[in-house]
Amino acid sequence: MFIGRKSELDSLNKLYIEDKFQFIVMYGRRRVGKTTLLAEFCKDKPSIFLLLKNIMIKWLWKIFQIRYYHILALTD
Ligand SMILES: Nc1ncnc2c1ncn2[C@@H]1O[C@H](COP(=O)(O)OP(=O)(O)OP(=O)(O)O)[C@@H](O)[C@H]1O
Ligand SMILES: [Mg+2]
Repeated sequence: MFIGRKSELDSLNKLYIEDKFQFIVMYGRRRVGKTTLLAEFCKDKPSIFLLLKNIMIKWLWKIFQIRYYHILALTD
């Protein structure tokens, strides 16, 4: 069950409804709830939630193509 984080969600939603591109960097100590907050923020929105760890950047586009092939209607 998700608890609290109202001000953080409000801040993210304020940015979300602005009609322009946004790039957000979230950082914080281990296990404070960064991933959970982002998952909560995304849950009622059209979104692509990709969790990547120690990945070579050259594989990123490949993963994107494979996983979201149908959404993006991509071809090789
Ligand atoms: N708002 C919340 N309500 C309830 N549980 C939460 C909340 N935020 C985090 N938790 C719980 O705390 C734990 C750590 O959360 P989370 O994995 O999101 O942290 P993190 O900051 O992304 O950690 P890491 O630095 O390891 O990536 C998880 O078990 C998660 O379910
Ligand atoms: Mg995390």
